[in-house]
Amino acid sequence: MREFQFSFGGRLMTQSNLIQQIAAARHQSESLFALLKPKALWERPISQRHRFIFYLGHLDAFDAIQICREALGLKSPDPELDALFQTGIDPDSSHLPQDKESDWPTPLQVRAYAQRCRARVDENIHRAPYEAICMALEHRQMHLETLAYMLHNSPYELKNVPRLPEENHTNGRTSCQEWRDVPEGVAVLGKARDGAFGWDNEYEQAQTFVAGFRMQRHKVTNGEYLRFVQDGAPLPHFWIQRGDKLLYRGMFGEIPLPLDWPVYVTQLEAEAYANWLGKKLPSEAQFHRAAYGDPSDRRFYPWGDAAPQRHHGNFDFARWDPEPVDATPGGDSLFGISQLVSNGWEWTCTPFAPFPGFEPHPAYPGYSANFFDNQHYVLKGASPRTAARLLRPSFRNWFRRDYPYLYATFRCVEN
Ligand SMILES: [Fe+2]
Repeated sequence: MREFQFSFGGRLMTQSNLIQQIAAARHQSESLFALLKPKALWERPISQRHRFIFYLGHLDAFDAIQICREALGLKSPDPELDALFQTGIDPDSSHLPQDKESDWPTPLQVRAYAQRCRARVDENIHRAPYEAICMALEHRQMHLETLAYMLHNSPYELKNVPRLPEENHTNGRTSCQEWRDVPEGVAVLGKARDGAFGWDNEYEQAQTFVAGFRMQRHKVTNGEYLRFVQDGAPLPHFWIQRGDKLLYRGMFGEIPLPLDWPVYVTQLEAEAYANWLGKKLPSEAQFHRAAYGDPSDRRFYPWGDAAPQRHHGNFDFARWDPEPVDATPGGDSLFGISQLVSNGWEWTCTPFAPFPGFEPHPAYPGYSANFFDNQHYVLKGASPRTAARLLRPSFRNWFRRDYPYLYATFRCVEN
């Protein structure tokens, strides 16, 4: 057995610790599938994504491909199923997938295949390299979030509601917006090759000078965005009009629009709102300045170096839905800015592009490089369904700017 240890965000990671995290993530992915009624496996709640049945095979297929085939060079007993379940899709809306239910194996066959993948992973994981284990773990954790979007966008009658429903934490009024100064300085983007795991797009580390700017202390709320809607903007995807009532599309039911929750929008909607206000969306570098400060006083999280806890923010599966934008001042950054890494990803105005020195990962060359197309934009931060591991400063998320399904919000800057 090759044993290794790394320090990660103030915590020591050992190989057995990672294996425990994989077990926990498997348990979480199974709980998500358990929220689906059986017939829902054939559903495709987001037209640009695969049907649920794909993900039932994909998570364990990916682990076996990365750990057994790519890292350890083992031959797979299921090469055809591996090819079917290897990668997700992200077409633009004019090239939507056309597959039929009958193109897929039965749920019984998919579960049996996933079980074979998992058994091979468990047999070999103890001799797998650190990087392959981390890749499998974080890949599954990212899917815990994308599966949550898919569930969120599924009709309520296809979901089993958990026995303990979530409390709708809201004060029922629009929170007060404030502005904070972020002085000029150097932003540190990306990640040094220090041995701790990162995805290919996090490298290399890059420093860039950022002029002083002002940033909204809080994320833009539903209540603030409502004024834009009253001025003629269309309703965001997570809002529903029923008669004269405006409702929020919650994970397990519609609720009166919580005015103090961050508004979930596309990047196009965020940009239109910023223009309407006479402001801008922050760049990726501005986000880094606001969240992590100077290289001389750099912190791992906006609040400092302490491991993420509930009072720092709404992340790591704390809730299904957001909470008020002023609920967690304990997570404020050095400059007094709230929830930068919590309660919804934040859109930037920066197209997703490689940092200087980028190299695609040989075992997964398309992970990022396929999306450097000026059609995808960088999001930073974290949503209620983002695993704590992914809260590291160099982690980057990216989506098409008109994609309305994810837990993405924004705040404005003044340059
Ligand atoms: Fe995937």
